[in-house]
Amino acid sequence: MNPEWRIINLDNLDYCYSPRSLESIQGRKNYTFIQGDVCNSQLINHIFCTENIDIIFHLAAKTHVESSFQSPSGFQRVNVDGTRVLVDAAHRSRHRPKRFIYVSTDEVYGGSLGDVFHESSPLRPTNPYAATKVAAECLVRSYWDKYQLPIIITRSNNVYGPRQYTEKVIPRFLTLLQKNKKCTVQGTLPISRHFLFVSDAVQAFLLVLEKGTVGEIYNVGTSFEIPITQLAQELVRMVKNVPEAETNDWIEFVPGRQRVDLRYPISCEKLQQLGWREEVSWAEGIRRTVQWYQDNPDFWSDVSEDQTKQQEV
Ligand SMILES: NC(=O)c1ccc[n+]([C@@H]2O[C@H](COP(=O)([O-])OP(=O)(O)OC[C@H]3O[C@@H](n4cnc5c(N)ncnc54)[C@H](O)[C@@H]3O)[C@@H](O)[C@H]2O)c1
Repeated sequence: MNPEWRIINLDNLDYCYSPRSLESIQGRKNYTFIQGDVCNSQLINHIFCTENIDIIFHLAAKTHVESSFQSPSGFQRVNVDGTRVLVDAAHRSRHRPKRFIYVSTDEVYGGSLGDVFHESSPLRPTNPYAATKVAAECLVRSYWDKYQLPIIITRSNNVYGPRQYTEKVIPRFLTLLQKNKKCTVQGTLPISRHFLFVSDAVQAFLLVLEKGTVGEIYNVGTSFEIPITQLAQELVRMVKNVPEAETNDWIEFVPGRQRVDLRYPISCEKLQQLGWREEVSWAEGIRRTVQWYQDNPDFWSDVSEDQTKQQEV
């Protein structure tokens, strides 16, 4: 964390948040945590009135795709209304922010069979989560178009690494294997995903902040792509150390959604032109991730409610 920066972290401590993730920075003088809802306009306006906020990184969201079909209104509220509250407060602030960075997702493009998505590709979200991210993008762009509020949008592939909540596919598989349960692969579709290590995503966000052009969109991605079944096999090999022939004994195929986006290939040329390169290889990133979950088996252990939920891919 840049020691020159004063950081305010606003989060409502939703089920996927653990205060333990931020233990290492909690005591720092330049860090403040506020427990609050991004939809609470009174609170958000108060923060903008009382603090001279220069930069906003907006990540607060509901992100579990399957849940977005079950309770779309919650996603609409947090992802769309929350973004409206935040971007409007930033616009009204007497201290004009220098950057408003909205962290969006590759899912806004919808799935692809072959085409690689560029920032100008059409947006075809196929689930309520992705639809709310598109709506939020439109909202922040409208403040750029009308008021030149200096916004930038990022659209990233799947991010993974230590401390990630166990509803996302990699920590989900690791947690199941640690409990001597099988990895549950949902559906029979040949789904594959691109995975980017968390520190590379963070570096991309910081570079976009430093060098990105306002009003622009930047894909943040990786060339590393892996079918979900192969991901399960790889994690079984790493965690269970079983002979190749026994790998599939740790994988169970369970019913899944009929229609799921198969892949999200994105071009990151624009980000690379700013100087960004992926630094952590998959081999290194997944080794560090597996190690962390092995060293911290109880980190998310108090969480049981998601065990019936479908994992997020
Ligand atoms: N994880 C990924 O692979 C990925 C990829 C692309 C984009 N993104 C985007 O990055 C952001 C973070 O994703 P994540 O995977 O860490 O999500 P997450 O679901 O793990 O975490 C979301 C965070 O937002 C907070 N939050 C939820 N509702 C809130 C509210 N009403 N007010 C304040 N805080 C609230 C939660 O407590 C949590 O800390 C999201 O905007 C997501 O769309 C994530």
